[in-house]
Amino acid sequence: MTDHTTLSAAECGAPEEQVDVPAPLLPGAWPLLGHAPALLRDPLALLVRAGRAAPLTRVRLGPAAAYVVTGPDLVHQVLVTDAAGYDKGFQFDVLRRLIGDGVGTSRGAKHRRNKRMLRPAFDRTASRGHAVDMTPQIEHFLGAQWDPASAPRGHAAPDGARTVDAAVDMRVLSMRLITRSMSGSEFAADEVMRALPGLLSGIGRRALLPIRALDLVPTPGNRRFDHSLRRVHAVADDMVARERARAARQGSPGSAGLLAALLAAVDEEGAGMTDAQAHDEIMTLLLAGTETTAGVLAWCLHVLARDSELQQRLRLEIAEVTGGKRLEPADLRGLELAERVVKEVLRLYPPGWLVGRRAVQETRLGATRIPAGSQVLVNFYALQRDPGAFPDPDAFDPDRWKSMDMAAAGPYYLPFGSGPRVCLGESYGMAEIFCTLCAILAGYRIEPVPGTVVRPVARTTLHPDTVPLRVTRISGP
Ligand code: HEM
Repeated sequence: MTDHTTLSAAECGAPEEQVDVPAPLLPGAWPLLGHAPALLRDPLALLVRAGRAAPLTRVRLGPAAAYVVTGPDLVHQVLVTDAAGYDKGFQFDVLRRLIGDGVGTSRGAKHRRNKRMLRPAFDRTASRGHAVDMTPQIEHFLGAQWDPASAPRGHAAPDGARTVDAAVDMRVLSMRLITRSMSGSEFAADEVMRALPGLLSGIGRRALLPIRALDLVPTPGNRRFDHSLRRVHAVADDMVARERARAARQGSPGSAGLLAALLAAVDEEGAGMTDAQAHDEIMTLLLAGTETTAGVLAWCLHVLARDSELQQRLRLEIAEVTGGKRLEPADLRGLELAERVVKEVLRLYPPGWLVGRRAVQETRLGATRIPAGSQVLVNFYALQRDPGAFPDPDAFDPDRWKSMDMAAAGPYYLPFGSGPRVCLGESYGMAEIFCTLCAILAGYRIEPVPGTVVRPVARTTLHPDTVPLRVTRISGP
């Protein structure tokens, strides 16, 4: 594995506070612009270069500097041991203003309270239950979007195959599922579907270029964004009001849904959520829980479409585990090959490919002094492609996980992050991914559309630009 040791103060024979080994500036900076052109042109290549250069490197983005952290010890220091010394940085200042102070955007004591309250609704058992409840919705969606029988005239090939873009469909499906599983209502799902895409793309731009004056100019784009934001806020209010009314009618909890579980949560003093907090948590979950799972699903379908043998092995595994019946929560434990496939997709294409932090006061990373206010970028993308930890790191090889020494590889594999800000929705997201893959593979054969090229888009999440597939209905493995 790459040598990630850094010079300690004792090794230098100097008192701890005087040692400062500056992080090397990554070669290739342009005058004035620094590494910004490279970051915009090919961010993933820049991250791999930074990761191979040193465990901690410096990049310049115009006049501002940022530290890129790829060494697993230093990643652990930022995310876990020294987590209290960092906040999530300016992008989250922007997000907080737009979507409120939920678990993803709040800080300090408020964040700890929010997370403790939300955790039970997202534990593994609850998540598997919520996800498996979605299977009818997934099948309904596929029936409408993928079934040749429901294709508009001329949209199915003579052999019965239909062409779909799985990148688009997985985004739509995952928005629909999270909204349905929170609200239980089709109305909310439709409203969110109309407003969320505009909101997500506008948030991406605002987080990247947080210039308030740009947002206040009444351009058509800004007006659309403001409208989408108002609509999603209104749906979140509506969801809370409906769930409260249902709970009042039926006794608490009002239903077995995710939102009912959130509204039933209490803090250590036994206090529940206010409507305002529930609103902010809904906004957070709608944002955090759609593009992430959608991207992973789209990448899974991309790799499976290109490997018909692996696809068939998975189909057989699913048939064996479910006995041809509808998936039960307990079945998820038996999907051993599916788990390796998803694990490998998460290694190669982590939705959280680059995660930002800001040093709240002067601190140190290894032997390097980090000034207060510095931006620190955790390079998950290159960490998970470390050639020492993962031989032939760019190859998609689900079987590598059969013999993996997890004690050695664990620090190099963090698709859900680590420490106090670790993903809240891991179990829920994974269960949703498995349920969707099961429904797709049990009902459809998927193939790539010849001649198409799939490219990664590294923005708020890492997702494929498009995944054109030919899908054919099948009735058994
Ligand atoms: C496979 C899918 C997913 C992946 C790979 C993923 C990954 C991540 C990562 C890497 C973080 C940490 C970010 C950081 O350290 O700044 C995170 C945070 C978070 N995720 Fe996920 N996520 C996924 C799905 C979901 C889902 C489905 C939900 C909710 C329904 C969710 C809710 C959250 C929340 C609320 C946070 C913020 C936690 C905090 O700040 O304490 N995620 N996720």
